Amino acid sequence: MWDRPSHTTSASGEETTLSLQLALTLDRESRLPLAVQIRNSLRKLIEDGTLWPGTRIPSSRQLALDMGVSRSVVVEAYEQLSAEGYLQTRHGSGTTVSERAGAPDTTSRLVPPDPETAPEAMWDLRTGTSNVMDFPRQEWIRSMAAVVADAGHLELGYSPPAGVPLTRRVLTGYLGRVRGVRSRPEDLMVTAGFAQGLALICRVLLDRGHTTLAVEDPGHPGEREFVTSSGLRVVGIPVDEDGLRVDLLERSGVRAVLLTPGNQFPTGVRLCVPRRERLIAWAREVGGYIIEDDFDSAFLHRSDRLPALQSLAPDRVVYAGSASKTLAPALRLGWLAAPSELMASVEYVRAGWDIGCSGLEQLTFARFIDTGALDRYQRQLRTELHRRRQTVRRQVEACLPGARLTGGESGLQAYVQLPPHMAETALLRAARRRSVLTRGGAFYTLSDTTRPPALVLSYATVTCSGLGPSMAALGAAYREVGG
Ligand SMILES: Cc1ncc(COP(=O)(O)O)c(C=O)c1O
Repeated sequence: MWDRPSHTTSASGEETTLSLQLALTLDRESRLPLAVQIRNSLRKLIEDGTLWPGTRIPSSRQLALDMGVSRSVVVEAYEQLSAEGYLQTRHGSGTTVSERAGAPDTTSRLVPPDPETAPEAMWDLRTGTSNVMDFPRQEWIRSMAAVVADAGHLELGYSPPAGVPLTRRVLTGYLGRVRGVRSRPEDLMVTAGFAQGLALICRVLLDRGHTTLAVEDPGHPGEREFVTSSGLRVVGIPVDEDGLRVDLLERSGVRAVLLTPGNQFPTGVRLCVPRRERLIAWAREVGGYIIEDDFDSAFLHRSDRLPALQSLAPDRVVYAGSASKTLAPALRLGWLAAPSELMASVEYVRAGWDIGCSGLEQLTFARFIDTGALDRYQRQLRTELHRRRQTVRRQVEACLPGARLTGGESGLQAYVQLPPHMAETALLRAARRRSVLTRGGAFYTLSDTTRPPALVLSYATVTCSGLGPSMAALGAAYREVGG
């Protein structure tokens, strides 16, 4: 919550109120005094959650004007509610509904809360965040300003639910250029992040008689929850150094799979070429679908980069991407490129859900791509993240003897396999006591009990200079629990 003045000063120096509105009605026939009526109505709106904690309400002068009562009536009501703890008035920021406990949990499923409440910690190495502090604000503002300045009737109106045509065209070109994705603008949909794309595909699979969806084990616990809440049952398929065990998938009886072949989440391994081919052959044989979550492809180091799996079989693979890791989760911008016959069903389902994502945001993104700003930013970020990964690798060697990083050179987190005797939970607790928050392999595991203990260290928000002390603290925790 940020502080804003309840009064602003215009260019001429004249003070103007912010003219906030509040929908209250008065019964002029009632014998209840007006101040009591205002107090009661406001109190009810706060108690039943209509007025949310932190909501700014009009100044007493403004409300009195709007309701046609004298200001002293409103002042009396506000004072009473302030005394009861419903309202708070801070100099400079006006009157707001008091912050009170009991707000519902609105945490995203893709960022699951920790089972234990996290204390204030100096180093947060948990996954789920992006490097948002480097978000290219000026470039984004420039793109958005140009879009808004040029927007006519068409751009300010409704766009097709599948996305603004220009953005779909630009994205199709971009994905072909950087990931080898073979699609057409009409087979590409702009979604509110990967999460919405996944929910849509799950719905379509259910409609087509699927009851299960295979997922990687270990994998993203939030994604599993998402799939389950759609009505599909998840079936975990173990992952080894070469990615998903396609041989086990073949024996599972499942006909659709969700995976991160470019940079497996969280182990960082890449699905090897023979398994890619075998996976496609499996999909063709069972008439099934592969959902390719290419969430962090922008951070694939050149030594790890393979074209998207989708390029091998655009008729069997649903390619899904997101701006959450590359730019910022707040944009809620993602995309799906699906086989034509599947896209028709996806569009049908989507039409019943919403009327598409923000057109202005989509146009901003298209411009951001077209002007080369996205490529430029990704190049910088990739170099920075690679530097961080190298630092983590060196620090793991120095501070956690016997542990090793799995996977290649890419991504936003390091999967550190620990010696078999190491107690994961004890290590996490010891790290926490040293102000380092992180998660163990068990957090990501579904049912594969054969995996050695592990730590998953995200370096999305900690720079190289912070990685030294945080890894040293982790090293001390490691020694404490017998490493
Ligand atoms: C494995 C994985 N896929 C996809 C995403 C992106 O999801 P969304 O675009 O809904 O933010 C994330 C973000 O945390 C992720 O970890």
